[in-house]
Amino acid sequence: MKRVWVLLLVVLGIAAGYGFTGSNVPRAELSFQGAPATAEQLGEMLFFEPMISANRDLSCASCHIPAHGFADTVAFSTGVGGRLGKRNAPSCANMSERPYFFFDGRAATLEDQVRFPIEDENEMGLPIAEAVARLNSDPKYVQYFNAIYRQAPSEANLKSAIAAFERTLETSSTPFDRYMKGNDSAISLSAQRGRELFMSDKAKCFDCHFSPDFTGDEFRNIGLYDGVKYTDEGRFVITKDSADLGKFKVPGLRNVAVTAPYMHNGMFRTLREVIDYYDDPYKSVARPVNIDTLLLQPLHLTEQEKVDLENFMRTLTDDRFANSSRASLKR
Ligand code: HEC
Ligand code: HEC
Repeated sequence: MKRVWVLLLVVLGIAAGYGFTGSNVPRAELSFQGAPATAEQLGEMLFFEPMISANRDLSCASCHIPAHGFADTVAFSTGVGGRLGKRNAPSCANMSERPYFFFDGRAATLEDQVRFPIEDENEMGLPIAEAVARLNSDPKYVQYFNAIYRQAPSEANLKSAIAAFERTLETSSTPFDRYMKGNDSAISLSAQRGRELFMSDKAKCFDCHFSPDFTGDEFRNIGLYDGVKYTDEGRFVITKDSADLGKFKVPGLRNVAVTAPYMHNGMFRTLREVIDYYDDPYKSVARPVNIDTLLLQPLHLTEQEKVDLENFMRTLTDDRFANSSRASLKR
């Protein structure tokens, strides 16, 4: 595990140095030199590989930007041919404990998940068989896959390698984690109050955002579906069960300070906007369908409580992302 941390540290260090701009991610940003030696390294190479997109100009890292907690910085990412996606690109870090993927949970494993962005016409837009064929026509990749998997590139080992890399993107080195290990001064008094509030009956955040990654991996409806202006049906798209209308996968909150904008539709630009939303959802969406009973009444948070909640969420940023969050730090 430690080795993997070092690996990621190097990726991010180099990423910070070069400044990720989105597409056309150059190879120089890989964390290792020469041939990949493990499935994780091969997966890293593929994560930055534009060859597996229709026009050879987009990689996974174009939308899952390492310096931003592996999330995108715009509400809707630009995919193949300049087409915009329909949902916000969330972080793809801290995925190893998740039981399903995407806001509607349509992929059951990290391996299975890989096919979706490659084939999505608004993302990389390439049939996965074609992606595999391209890898097979590149002698370098044929050699790497043979060395690591003892097979030529295939759909299965392509998925396996990228999933292996994604499983290395775990973050637990945060001020919050140091505080939980007994270092009382690791987070401010405001953040400590924010933590209490986060878990309290008043704010109720912990009812949905629990576990070490701050998600219970459930689908819940926080009121962002009204069938008129807000039309993403969420989990319903998959299950066709009317009880699932407007439910979305509860996202984990690690590194949330560097992954703006927020929600499946990227409608909030700052954590403060998210907190203001929870304080009184009806100010943003007057007639939500199926909103969770926890959010039926406004929370009536004070200004200080809002500041405290935000400061608490800012303690969940891994040290390696500290520089990307500093720019937006206030108070
Ligand atoms: C054009 C932008 C774009 C590209 C390129 C892209 N993604 Fe994504 N990714 C998204 C969006 C948007 C979502 C959310 C889609 C949804 O939930 O319906 C997402 C979701 C995910 C998730 C699920 C996260 C969660 O919390 O469930 C993972 C994992 C992921 N992508 C990995 C990848 C990998 C691996 C690649 C490369 C093979 C990739 N993505 C390429 C935009 C992109
Ligand atoms: C009823 C369950 C529930 C409660 C209570 C709840 N959340 Fe959420 N939270 C969700 C769901 C579901 C989403 C994703 C919604 C979407 O994408 O449309 C979410 C999204 C978020 C996001 C955006 C994450 C991202 O990466 O886009 C933040 C930040 C957040 N919640 C913080 C909080 C805070 C702070 C509280 C308490 C004031 C709270 N949540 C209470 C279910 C809940």
